[in-house]
Amino acid sequence: MKKLKIASIPGDGIGKEVVPAAIDVLHTVAELHGGLTFEFTDFPYSCEYYLEHGVMMPEDGMKRLSDFDSIFLGAVGDANLVPDHISLWGLLIKIRREFEQTINVRPAKQLPGIQSPLVNPNDFDIMVVRENSEGEYSSVGGRIYRGEDEIAIQNNVFSRKATERAMRFAFDLASKRKGRVTSATKSNGIVYSMPFWDEVFKDVAESYPNVKTDQQHIDALAAFFVTNPSRFDVVVASNLFGDILSDIGAGIMGSIGVAPAGNINVNGKYPSMFEPVHGSAPDIIGKGIANPVGQIWTAKMLLDHHGEEEMGQVLLDVIEETTKNRIITSDLGGSHSTQDVTNEIINRLKAKA
Ligand code: NAI
Ligand code: MG
Repeated sequence: MKKLKIASIPGDGIGKEVVPAAIDVLHTVAELHGGLTFEFTDFPYSCEYYLEHGVMMPEDGMKRLSDFDSIFLGAVGDANLVPDHISLWGLLIKIRREFEQTINVRPAKQLPGIQSPLVNPNDFDIMVVRENSEGEYSSVGGRIYRGEDEIAIQNNVFSRKATERAMRFAFDLASKRKGRVTSATKSNGIVYSMPFWDEVFKDVAESYPNVKTDQQHIDALAAFFVTNPSRFDVVVASNLFGDILSDIGAGIMGSIGVAPAGNINVNGKYPSMFEPVHGSAPDIIGKGIANPVGQIWTAKMLLDHHGEEEMGQVLLDVIEETTKNRIITSDLGGSHSTQDVTNEIINRLKAKA
């Protein structure tokens, strides 16, 4: 029996509604599998925890989390209780940085039965692989003078190690999918880091002869995401480009409530963390209408990460059957509750036994 020890951090707002739903789904997946069990340990780290203890997590919090196979997180942030920069940096970003989760993976896929804001999206299925540790989001730079002489300098940092790591991840992923990697570049305008990015891409591509490649400048690429998303398979991008592209991906799916994400530690030293793209959705807390699909699809990514790709595919199939039958929440134009959607997914999984 394979046992996965998962730290669950529901966090704030609807995180507390969708994480338990997705955990029920994962237990059902384990039953269906037969040789797999999940042991979840709940951690109350959140804005409420901060109000009580003055910190988002205790001093030994990171050490305790490091014992788990993965972290399953809902959402962090409740600006009515704690300023966002304190809650996010004290928990979410702390975990991403200290656990060296250097790759951010975000799928964008047309779910049947869901209206994309695009008029004719065809059947898109994209994976954005975003370098998550350096690039444009570096803390190198500074500001001098004030007033009309003021200067701000922000340096981009691109190391061969991190660039190669993101690209290898993208190529490995593409090898298991449709076998195509598109590189997001801007070497016509950014004259040091992006030509370097292109060179590393070319080098890495040589060790994957079976994967087709192309590269696009980020501006054109952003337009193609909207006009013809079905032409892409895996897209590898720097921190900033990947951040923007993956949000376009979430946008064209039809609701942020369905978008999943994984923060991947590739050196195996620390757990990876799986969390949906959405936040704590303060406007719908407690109404029972939060879309659980983003969190449940995130659970599929957790399964894939632990080598349970077959079960991951079963779970995604069931999610698609559910949206196809229009068992969907109000953000997607439906009238079903969080629980209705969760029950539908669980029942469909049980029917596969
Ligand atoms: P948000 O994602 O929480 O909400 C944006 C809009 O989308 C709202 O109208 C919300 O009702 C809707 N929405 C989000 N998820 C939904 C779901 N599953 N089902 C149905 N509707 C859904 O973003 P917002 O309002 O900017 O942030 C709220 C709080 O969440 C802030 O404190 C923010 O810092 C935090 N946040 C945390 C993130 C994380 O933990 N990774 C990511 C984004 C925001
Ligand atoms: Mg973003």
